Amino acid sequence: LAKQLAGYKSVDDHVTSGMVVGLGTGSTAYFAVERVGQKLASGELKDIICIPTSERTREQAESLKIPLCTLNEKSVLDVAIDGADAVDPNLALVKGGGGALLREKMVEVMAKKFVCIVDDSKLCKGLGPSFALPVEITPFCHMHTLRTIAALPEVAGCKAELRLGNVATGAKKDGDKPAVTDNGNYIVDLFFETPIKDVRAAAKALKNTVGVVDHGLFVDMTYQVIVAGKDGSCRVAG
Ligand code: A5P
Repeated sequence: LAKQLAGYKSVDDHVTSGMVVGLGTGSTAYFAVERVGQKLASGELKDIICIPTSERTREQAESLKIPLCTLNEKSVLDVAIDGADAVDPNLALVKGGGGALLREKMVEVMAKKFVCIVDDSKLCKGLGPSFALPVEITPFCHMHTLRTIAALPEVAGCKAELRLGNVATGAKKDGDKPAVTDNGNYIVDLFFETPIKDVRAAAKALKNTVGVVDHGLFVDMTYQVIVAGKDGSCRVAG
């Protein structure tokens, strides 16, 4: 209920006819995509074109007959809507629990407004302990890159694990191979016991590591966070 509430509200508040809209990935973004589909079908929205952030979202949008394009055709978006795994008091996010962080960041950084939709379980005092931070890396010498990341002082104390099994759910069985993203890369999850001290410094250090494609820290990107509660309440931060 909370995820649906946040997803529907984001579209009702921010999407109007004629817009280019970024569609996020995950169980909350699912409802925003559903709402865009409903409003297009009813004629309430017209001339919308959307950019999906994963193959899963592309499939859902296609099934709802939502017109799609890529950043190659439209590189400025009016709005992008997506979930998050953790939100701190400055509206910095951890994303990529579903493994879609690279496409999400590429799309959402180009949006005039990036609207984040969460249920209140995602709110935290500091990023790190509540949800592992995903880092997308190239498969080439991946264990070397994993060790390099784990040794960065900016993420000191983290435990780095290669994601195995299903890239979207992290579900794994014995003997599973590394999870592969939509871009053919691997994911390293960083587990923290205490909050990351300087999120901007960590973001920079990770991004500057050769072999890292991108990471799930989304800093200074959020226009607004819509937070829904299980009790049916909905509030806006930002
Ligand atoms: C996908 O890679 C993620 O960034 C999702 O946006 C994030 O994991 C939130 O997903 P849920 O809405 O399913 O919690």
